[in-house]
Amino acid sequence: MSDKEIAVVTGGAMGIGKAISRRLKSSGKEIVIIDISKEQAEAAARELEGSYYLCDVRDSEQVAAAVKEIIEKHGKIDILVNNAGITSDALLMRMKDGDWDRVIDINLKGVFNFTREVLRKSMLKNRKGSIINIASIVGIIGNPGQANYSASKAGVIALSKTAAKEGASRGVRVNAVAPGFIETRMTEKLSGSVKKDFLKNIPLNRMGTGDEVADAVEFLASDKASYITGQVLKVDGGMVM
Ligand code: NAI
Repeated sequence: MSDKEIAVVTGGAMGIGKAISRRLKSSGKEIVIIDISKEQAEAAARELEGSYYLCDVRDSEQVAAAVKEIIEKHGKIDILVNNAGITSDALLMRMKDGDWDRVIDINLKGVFNFTREVLRKSMLKNRKGSIINIASIVGIIGNPGQANYSASKAGVIALSKTAAKEGASRGVRVNAVAPGFIETRMTEKLSGSVKKDFLKNIPLNRMGTGDEVADAVEFLASDKASYITGQVLKVDGGMVM
């Protein structure tokens, strides 16, 4: 079994997940990236001298196979960051079944799939683990055009609290990070006027960065957060308070 802590980051090939992977690597962890984008996952794993598995988080069989291989190779998983997520926005009355199902499957079922498997195969047995789920402030306050996304993230928050209650007696902490408006591919798509409107509501008057989300994840993953579980840490420039 490796001396280093093993950190698995879903959706770690790009955006916030990549920033989290870099940060955990720089704090001495061995990084395992889970993603569906082969080229980016390969490049990120090479940069971080880690490994990657191509795996769709919504498919429980693929998730079980990936976790099995990771445990065979590394012997354990110490840190799980459930970060993979998508948007597929439309006003509620125009939202298609497919938009609803895809977002709930990836953002919420994906977190369930990975959490269940990693608890079963490693953390509960080892009586050690930290799980950090990337939610969103819209899972707390809602957002027009994001019925599917906000519901999925509210689900992630509730799932995190339940997992925290179930895992606590076995040494497993589970927390959620709720980012606000972060500069990534996801927010690039938004028009200038939407961005301006958002900024009006952010006391720190700017968008956040992936590195700032990574700071929160690094803290929650570390022993400095040893008495913190079941919490939702907002990283949003003060937008929701
Ligand atoms: P991104 O689109 O840049 O990266 C998402 C990553 O997840 C990509 O590498 C993608 O290939 C991977 N992925 C997508 N579907 C997958 C699947 N089915 N299985 C495995 N991997 C999959 O997105 P970004 O902005 O970095 O978002 C990361 C997380 O942060 C998401 O959960 C998102 O909801 C959340 N978030 C983002 C905010 C933002 O402002 N960008 C704000 C609040 C939350």
